[in-house]
Amino acid sequence: MADKKVAEQYYAPPPQLGKWEGFKQFLWNSETSQCLGRTGSSWAKIIIFYIIFYAGLAAFFGGMLAVFFQTLDSTKPKWELDGGLIGSNPGLGFRPMPPESNVESTLIWYDAGKPDNMKYWIEETERFLETYRNAPGAENRVKCDFDNPPPEGKVCIVNIDGFYPCTRDNQFNYPKAAPCIFLKLNKIYNWYPDMYNDTTKLSPHMPEDLKEHIRAEAARGTKNTNVIWVSCEGENPADVESIGAIQYIPRRGFPGFYFPFKNIEGYMPPLVAVYFERPKTGVLINIECKAWARNIHHDRSERRGSVHFELMVD
Ligand SMILES: *[C@@H]1O[C@H](CO)[C@@H](O)[C@H](O)[C@H]1NC(C)=O
Repeated sequence: MADKKVAEQYYAPPPQLGKWEGFKQFLWNSETSQCLGRTGSSWAKIIIFYIIFYAGLAAFFGGMLAVFFQTLDSTKPKWELDGGLIGSNPGLGFRPMPPESNVESTLIWYDAGKPDNMKYWIEETERFLETYRNAPGAENRVKCDFDNPPPEGKVCIVNIDGFYPCTRDNQFNYPKAAPCIFLKLNKIYNWYPDMYNDTTKLSPHMPEDLKEHIRAEAARGTKNTNVIWVSCEGENPADVESIGAIQYIPRRGFPGFYFPFKNIEGYMPPLVAVYFERPKTGVLINIECKAWARNIHHDRSERRGSVHFELMVD
């Protein structure tokens, strides 16, 4: 009799529970005092285990991060020039840039007869120049020229009010259908330009008008040629025809005294305003601007040393 009872217990099928009952029992099983399938002590053990496990993981991560930060310097990059991914071939950028909703676009298109239409471009340019006006580190900025490079620990002023007629008051000339586009060379830590400052050794790839310009500058004084030169051209014959006269303001390039960039507080990259005096209206003009120094190589696909954009004035 007793044997039979044991056997009965042993083979007793689990009680058939409905879905809801089963779930309730899973949440709290009063028979075995299990909550979510575990007893209190089992829960306590597993919680303690995970606390220790994650604390160990966090400590390990923190330790590794601390070791990594030991190898960095906050004022200069760990990998410089050719050692780093940025390399030693600076890119060229233009402002104003098309709206962020259109990242891939490089088209500057507006209607000179519609103030609302050009508002974006004017405001975008102004916003960009504003970053120069409000840049911190003013105490480090000094006035430089070709005879007066910045002293150690100082950087050169970029004269934001020296772009006439490309000024805010003129709305950067957008209303006159002669817009000003600003060019800027990307900063590369410790990069020294190898400038075309010898008129006998100019690049054969340079546009003729740039060569002439360099010779004219050299005639005024050899120091005036210590410049990373800039050229903007129409890309195709039709673009060349449509682009019209171009002025580079304040000069046709980035003066050498702004280089190298050493991450001194207050440094601002120099700018060139490209003033399109009379671009043909109603057509899209493909424009390529290049920066010229012996150690700037032009690669359109990698966006090095040159920049492409389209201009369309209606
Ligand atoms: C020409 O530029 C190089 C650097 O690019 C510089 O070392 C050299 O002094 C410059 N020559 C003159 C005459 O200024």
